[in-house]
Amino acid sequence: MKIAVLTGGGDSSAINAALRGIVFQAKKYGFELVGIKNGWAGLVNAEFTDLNEKTIENTLTRSGTVLGTSRTNPFKMDTVDAVVENIKKAGLDAFITIGGDDTNGVLNRLHDEKDEHINGVGIPQTIDNDILGTEYAVGFDTSINMATTAIDTLRSTAESHCRVMVVEVMGRDAGHIALVAGVAGGAHEILVPEEDFDLDKVCARLKKRHDEGCDYSIVVVAEGAKPKGAGQITQTEKKDAFGHAILGGIGQYLADVIEEKTGIESRFSNLGHLQRGGVPTALDRYMSIRFGVKAVDMIKDGDYGKLVAVVDGKLTSVPLKEGLAENKLINMDVYHELNGLEYSSQPAKSKA
Ligand code: F6P
Repeated sequence: MKIAVLTGGGDSSAINAALRGIVFQAKKYGFELVGIKNGWAGLVNAEFTDLNEKTIENTLTRSGTVLGTSRTNPFKMDTVDAVVENIKKAGLDAFITIGGDDTNGVLNRLHDEKDEHINGVGIPQTIDNDILGTEYAVGFDTSINMATTAIDTLRSTAESHCRVMVVEVMGRDAGHIALVAGVAGGAHEILVPEEDFDLDKVCARLKKRHDEGCDYSIVVVAEGAKPKGAGQITQTEKKDAFGHAILGGIGQYLADVIEEKTGIESRFSNLGHLQRGGVPTALDRYMSIRFGVKAVDMIKDGDYGKLVAVVDGKLTSVPLKEGLAENKLINMDVYHELNGLEYSSQPAKSKA
């Protein structure tokens, strides 16, 4: 059995841990492993690399991916035939894709539209944690811990200067990072892509809070969040290779408007790609290693065309088509209960 592995899309912190799970489980069954370089680009160009115990040695604490990544989508570049040919030429019996909906979506389409004998298994990996079929994705825990630590760190300077501090986090279509890190970091406003916000109301609440004696406020905003009636803020007109807008800038926009409308000095901090790196947390490593082991088990059992998944807290698999059908959004009941919790529960500090 010859298995190839690729990692695609935006990277995160525990991909190498998933590779570790794959390498050791494949060794257990005597399967041959090969790495594909830089996501789907490596199959377009037939660029393979070693994937063995040596490759993954001492990588448990290393974020990123030793295989490299790209946002190449062969279906968008008219290079699908090259991919199918290279899979056959390399004599691959099965392969594992580690990535988000785009990376795993290519596997699904190859299997469905091009050749049903393309035997693949997907592992969910995205800091956004927005893959419908799974409760957990590789990289999420490290990113929420990073974002929470950043909010904790920004709190003191916001407080010392009596400012509103707007913290922009990633989350293109879903506000999982914003919700968890915002709640854990005690943010006063959490703004997510799932619900357009009323900018006047946000400003009024912040003003009231400050007028009542609370000297500073923290606003956490997901990059994909937008005010009612407006579009998402992008950094450039250009799209990435998967065809997505390159988001970023809502934090700066908000800080400017809040300062203008409330008169409270405001600053922003865009955590950006810092959320995609750093030493992976224990939970992230643990889950990712289990995902890797599970993926090899699925190949051993011929359980193809599926995504490794956590459903109701249990490690399982779901069909790729179902698991990737749409974005997994945050639970809005939880969001409404926890956003602004402090407004109702904390008595205002009296001004000295
Ligand atoms: O991987 C998802 C993501 O983290 C999104 O939240 C973000 O919009 C995007 O990646 C940014 O990716 P890059 O700048 O690396 O293309």
